[in-house]
Amino acid sequence: MIEKDFPDNPPPRLNELDTQSDALRWLLDKTGERLADFITSLPGQSTDSSALFDPEASWLKDPPPAAPTDAEELLSFLFDKVIPAAYNPASPGYLAYVPGGGLFSAALGELIAGTVNRYTGCWASAPAAVELETQAIRWLCELMGMPEGSLGVLTSGASMSTLIALVAAREKHLGEEFSRGVIYSSREIHHSIPKAARIAGLGEKNLRLVEVDERFRMRPDDLRKKIQADREAGLLPFFVCSSAGTVNTGSVDPLEEIARVAAEEGLWHHVDGAYGAAFRLVPELAESLSGMELADSLAVDPHKGLFLAYGTGALLVRDMAPLREAFQSSASYMPEMQEGEHYDFCEFTPELSRQWRGLRLWLPLKLHGVDAFRKSLELKRELALRAWNHLRKVEDVEIPVAPDLSLFMFRQEFENCKPAEEDARNQRLLERINQDRRIMLTGTIVDGRFYLRLCILHMRTDHARLDEALSIISDALEENREG
Ligand SMILES: Cc1ncc(COP(=O)(O)O)c(C=O)c1O
Repeated sequence: MIEKDFPDNPPPRLNELDTQSDALRWLLDKTGERLADFITSLPGQSTDSSALFDPEASWLKDPPPAAPTDAEELLSFLFDKVIPAAYNPASPGYLAYVPGGGLFSAALGELIAGTVNRYTGCWASAPAAVELETQAIRWLCELMGMPEGSLGVLTSGASMSTLIALVAAREKHLGEEFSRGVIYSSREIHHSIPKAARIAGLGEKNLRLVEVDERFRMRPDDLRKKIQADREAGLLPFFVCSSAGTVNTGSVDPLEEIARVAAEEGLWHHVDGAYGAAFRLVPELAESLSGMELADSLAVDPHKGLFLAYGTGALLVRDMAPLREAFQSSASYMPEMQEGEHYDFCEFTPELSRQWRGLRLWLPLKLHGVDAFRKSLELKRELALRAWNHLRKVEDVEIPVAPDLSLFMFRQEFENCKPAEEDARNQRLLERINQDRRIMLTGTIVDGRFYLRLCILHMRTDHARLDEALSIISDALEENREG
């Protein structure tokens, strides 16, 4: 036994790891000032300053710091050196990839959640916090039109949501002998689906890429054909992933028809709504997305369509039982798990300890109200239509399909130009558009040809920035005509 004298009244001493009292307020104030400056200066900030990153910077080689560093010095380092050296997905000019958001209220939720550090893996350890998260998921189900009784889990993003759905479907339909299981998705699906197939042990050889129509939407007739062929070959079709907004063209698959095929064939139907599902809030688009609510599972990404900070995805399901069957595990040291209406989130995903993700969804919904999100999404749709309408009138611009939601691709055509050279000139067009860093677009390859994409999904993108974007694009098109 270790013998040691403990004084009755230890001298008052702050724990070096615990920032308290005045130091805490000071740190919050200083950080708050930096954040407020960051947000208010966003309209003038560059959309891409990743070139500021210096691979030779001395700090990259710093050893672990044994002693404390001055907090103000650290804030300056972060805000002056690290944060700017990046693409700027918080900028209103960010029309690249699928824009993220950066809603401050979500960040505030994250700060509160991290500070109070409630354990939300198990219901019993923080019942009110877990119920608040469950409530936020229920709201999301309702907003997405899912049937009563639907619920789900919050995840780090759609890649994780899809993986969880796939593993649950695999367990439910195939059990432990799953090597003959087959997955279907269109050839325009996001690369997180083949990745999930690989991680789930099915491999890409068991993934069938279904043909698309002229609007890049999955063809249900080809889906049926492929399922039939696989059954005849003695394989076990069990999972179809359709898309509520593909990443390349923004196309929405015929969800109702795919749901019908899935029901008739006894397949689990998962909808990848990472980019598009949130547009279910826009009344004008509810019909295009109709059928989404028939899915067994739906991946929605609040960190895209609801403008939250990265790391907030959701998997919504009609039935929680398959998730529990796939991810449940127990240990004698753990509290008793709940049955019925209460949920221990650790039983429904691969995670045990987890962030209290619910707060960064619940707080923004309460603080701003759903109508604010709806209005912002309505505006994104309106801006996308305006951009499409403007560009389709330009004689040498080709737009293969009108935007189903808020994303479309386009390219400049040149007479007597070979495909490879035309692609190179479109790459050049993209560089010209992005060069002054007021807007940022990205490109993609569809059917072997290079296209630029315009994706409007940032809460800060408004009429003024779109006008500026269209004028930048017009100038770049003009310059590009000259060579
Ligand atoms: C259509 C689509 N599906 C899935 C994903 C993957 O989402 P996450 O990055 O949240 O994992 C993305 C990401 O952009 C996407 O656009």
